[in-house]
Amino acid sequence: MTNPFTPGFGLTPIILAGRDIAIDEFAAALAGTVPEARAILISGQRGAGKTVLLTEFRELALEAGWTDLRMHTSSTSLLEELRGQAISRLREIDPEAETSRLTSARVMNVSAQRDIVQRYEGEGEPLAVVLDRLAELAEAEGGGLLITLDELQSVDRDQLHALTQHVQDLIGSGHAVAFLAAGVRTGVDALLDHERTTFLRRAHRLEVGSVDVGTAAEAIRMTVADTAKSITPEAAVLAGEISRGYPYLIQLIGSKAWQNSGDAEVIEVEDVRGARDAVVAAMIKNVHGPALRGLSARKREYLRAMLEDEGPSAVGDIARRMGIDPRNQSTYRERLIEDDLIRPAGRGFVEYALPYLDEALRHEEREGVGADVEPDRGVRRSHRGRRA
Ligand SMILES: Nc1ncnc2c1ncn2[C@@H]1O[C@H](COP(=O)(O)OP(=O)(O)OP(=O)(O)O)[C@@H](O)[C@H]1O
Ligand SMILES: [Mg+2]
Repeated sequence: MTNPFTPGFGLTPIILAGRDIAIDEFAAALAGTVPEARAILISGQRGAGKTVLLTEFRELALEAGWTDLRMHTSSTSLLEELRGQAISRLREIDPEAETSRLTSARVMNVSAQRDIVQRYEGEGEPLAVVLDRLAELAEAEGGGLLITLDELQSVDRDQLHALTQHVQDLIGSGHAVAFLAAGVRTGVDALLDHERTTFLRRAHRLEVGSVDVGTAAEAIRMTVADTAKSITPEAAVLAGEISRGYPYLIQLIGSKAWQNSGDAEVIEVEDVRGARDAVVAAMIKNVHGPALRGLSARKREYLRAMLEDEGPSAVGDIARRMGIDPRNQSTYRERLIEDDLIRPAGRGFVEYALPYLDEALRHEEREGVGADVEPDRGVRRSHRGRRA
C-alpha cells in the first residue's frame, strides 16, 4: 500500500482542503466574459498551497479546452520563453501548419517544407503577432489562452512588465486570455510596490493559507478513505489539530501517521500522536529554518520576547522584555508583519503567523541559530556488514 499523502512542495494532494470557493470562482471566470476575473494573483506563505492551486486552475482550464503557456521565473528571458512556448503550441494546433507540412512531405518538396517550419520560427515575426494567432486558434477551439507564472517573488521586474504588457494587449484586442501568477506574499508585496506592476496590482488577489482544523481533519480522513486503510475519527481529529490546518502540515502529519501505522489496517490515535515531533521537526527544517536564517538580531529578539506568552502577546510587554521604548517596538512589529512572521491579533496584540514558529524559536535558543533539527543519529549495519 503506497502512502497517499503528498508532503512535498508542488505536489498536488488527492484531496484539496479549503479551496472550493476559489475553484468555483475560477471555473466561473473561465466560462464568463469578464476579463478582469481571469487575472489572478495567488499569494501566501511557504507551503500554503500556492503551486497546488495554480496547477489546479491550469488543469481546470485545460479541461475546458484552453491552451496553456507556462512561464518560469528561472528562465533567462521570459519573452523568449513565451515565444518558444507559443510557437510550439502553434505547431500543435494550427491546422494550416499541419496540412501544409503533410502536403510538402508527400511531394518531397524540401524547400516548401522548410518554408512551413520557418513560419513559426518567426525570424522577425513579432511576438505580438504570434500570440494573436495562437489566441485566435485557442478561441476557435472553444477555449482561450492561459499564461501562468509561479515563483513570482523571484521574477525580474522589467521582464514581468514586458510579459504583462503582452497579456494586456491581448485582452485589449478582445481575446479570451487568463493570467495566473503565484508567489510568496512578502516578495509579491515588495514587487507590487513598484510602478509598472499595475496590471498585477489590479489582478484578483487570492491569499491562500490555513484552513480550519475540521476541514483539515476531513481532508485527512478522505485521503485515507480512498485507500485500503482507514483512520479512526479520533485519530483524524487529532491529525487535523496537529496540522493546525496548514496545507503542508496536513500532508506531513497524514504521511507520518500512515507510516507509523505500518501494516495495520487502521490508523489509530497513537500513530498520529507519535508522529507529532517528526512533523514539527520537518516544519522547522523546511519552512521556519529558511525564514529565520537571515533575520536580524533585533527581530529575532522580538520574536523570542513573545515566547513567554501562551496566546497573543501584548506589544507593551514585548517592548518591556526587550528593554526598549514601546514606540520603538512598532518598527520591529511592522517589519515582522511584512516578513509574514507575526500578525496583528487585536488592538495592541500580535501573534506568530505560522504554526510551530514558537517551537522553531525554542529550538534555536537551545541548539543555536541554524542548528539542524534532525541530528544525524543511530548506528546500523551497512549492506557489507549484513553480508559479512
Ligand atoms: N488545498 C490543499 N489541501 C491539502 N494539502 C495541500 C493543499 N494545497 C497544498 N497542499 C500540500 O501542501 C504542500 C505545499 O503545497 P505547495 O507546493 O502548493 O505550496 P506553495 O505555497 O507553492 O509553497 P512554496 O512557497 O514553497 O512554493 C504540499 O505538500 C501539498 O501537497
Ligand atoms: Mg510553490
